Amino acid sequence: MATFLRPLSYRYQWLYDAISRTAALTVGGERRFRHLPLQGLTITPETRVLDLCCGSGQTTRFLVEQSEQVTGLDISPRSLERAQENVPQATYVQGWAEEMPLADNSFDVVHTSAAMHEMTPAQRQQIFQEAGRVLRPGGTLAMVDFHRPHNPLLWPGLALFLWLFETETAWQLLDSDVATELEKAGLQVTSFQLYGGGSLQVLHATKPASAPL
Ligand SMILES: C[S@@+](CC[C@H](N)C(=O)[O-])C[C@H]1O[C@@H](n2cnc3c(N)ncnc32)[C@H](O)[C@@H]1O
Repeated sequence: MATFLRPLSYRYQWLYDAISRTAALTVGGERRFRHLPLQGLTITPETRVLDLCCGSGQTTRFLVEQSEQVTGLDISPRSLERAQENVPQATYVQGWAEEMPLADNSFDVVHTSAAMHEMTPAQRQQIFQEAGRVLRPGGTLAMVDFHRPHNPLLWPGLALFLWLFETETAWQLLDSDVATELEKAGLQVTSFQLYGGGSLQVLHATKPASAPL
């Protein structure tokens, strides 16, 4: 699945950004979309934040407004180059989310936006386990991604979006229970909220303080 627009949107950042800004209108615009997973988290300048699958820094730019210790991780060298240019306040690491080249217990918050739909369920399971490893006990994973809409009026728009830009894994995410996946990885889901008529899910999951993974 997906059309020629998918590689184009990865090649041209302006196209990717225009598409995600348009999609974000369903929740009140890009700033609001980028802040949805951050609501309820305490992020101070000292909070160590990992922006997992940071892309070209689309959310990293908002994270550095709150923390002076933001690290972006992505596998794509081109995206990381752009992120470095767009948001030089953060530090960047190239690596697989499934096997992060990062120390155990080294982050207070792991954030990931619009990326988990690119993973198979098995990959996501590995990534959630890795997120648990790099989070300090008591630290929180915050994520935002697609969800099956409960408002039927939103179905055609989402289906068109997925058909144009996404692959099979995005459709698989709609059939997945992410909260259960997080719990299976040893994280405790503390919040699960839907936005945009149910087309977006935002989850927070905490690494238990008493049982290191
Ligand atoms: C759709 S973009 C999301 C970018 C950004 N977080 C946002 O909110 O717009 C997904 C990003 O995940 C990265 N990615 C995909 N699979 C990955 C993996 N297994 N490990 C690390 N990065 C990955 C891609 O390179 C891409 O930059």
